[in-house]
Amino acid sequence: MEDNRRIDERQAGILREAAALAKGELEHEGSGHDWWHIYRVTELAKRIAAEEGADPFICELAALLHDLADEKLVDDPEAGMKRTENWMLEHEATADEAAHVMEIIATMSFKGGGGAAMKTPEGRVVQDADRLDALGAIGIARTFVYSGKKGRPMYDPNIPVRQEMTPEEYRSGKDTAINHFHEKLLKLRDLMNTEAGRRIADDRHAFIEEFLLRFDREWQGR
Ligand code: ADP
Ligand code: NI
Repeated sequence: MEDNRRIDERQAGILREAAALAKGELEHEGSGHDWWHIYRVTELAKRIAAEEGADPFICELAALLHDLADEKLVDDPEAGMKRTENWMLEHEATADEAAHVMEIIATMSFKGGGGAAMKTPEGRVVQDADRLDALGAIGIARTFVYSGKKGRPMYDPNIPVRQEMTPEEYRSGKDTAINHFHEKLLKLRDLMNTEAGRRIADDRHAFIEEFLLRFDREWQGR
C-alpha cells in the first residue's frame, strides 16, 4: 500500500518527470486542457489531498497525467492509456502505483462510463480538483474560450438550455457559452466527492451565479 503522507525521493523524481511530460504534450492544446489546466488541477489536488488525508503522490501523479489519454486530445484513447501506464512503469513507479493511477484516469475520463463513482479517496480528490477547474473565475474564462474556439455565440436567447442530451449532442449540438453553465457547470457543485472539494465548489459556484445574474441584467440594458 502507498504511504499516506510523505513523498519520497523516488516519487519526487517521477512527479518532476510527469510534469515535464504533461507540459511537453499539452503545451499547445487549445480546448481548455492545456498544461495550465493540468497545473491548476495538480495544485488543487495537492491541497485537497492534504485536507482529506489522501496519498499525496498518487493524487499528484494522477492529476498530472489525467488528460494525456483523453478522448478529446488523442485519436486513440486506448493506446493513450497504454502509453501512460508504460511511461509510469518505465519511470520507476511500482506496479501498484501505476495501477492505481490508471484506475483513476480511466474512471474519470471515459464518458462511456456514465459517471461511474470513483473507487478510492485519491480518485475522489483528483476528480474534485478537475471539476473545480470548471468553476469560479477560471471556469468562466475557460467556457468563453471554448465557445469562441467552436465559433459559438456567447449567448442567444433563442437557443434553449437543453435538459437532457446524448454525448454526441453534448459535444456538437447548438450551444452557447451561457447555456453551458446551466447544462453542465452549475451541476458540478452537487457532484463533489470530498468535504474540501465541496467547500471550494460552494464558493466558485456562488461566483458563477453572481456572474450570470449580472450578465442577464446587462443583457437587458440595466
Ligand atoms: P472535462 O473537463 O470533463 O474533460 P469538457 O471537455 O467537457 O470536460 O470541458 C472542459 C471545459 O471546456 C469546461 O469546463 C468548459 O469550460 C468548456 N466547455 C466544454 N464544453 C463546452 C460547451 N459546450 N460550451 C462551452 N464551454 C464548454
Ligand atoms: Ni482535466
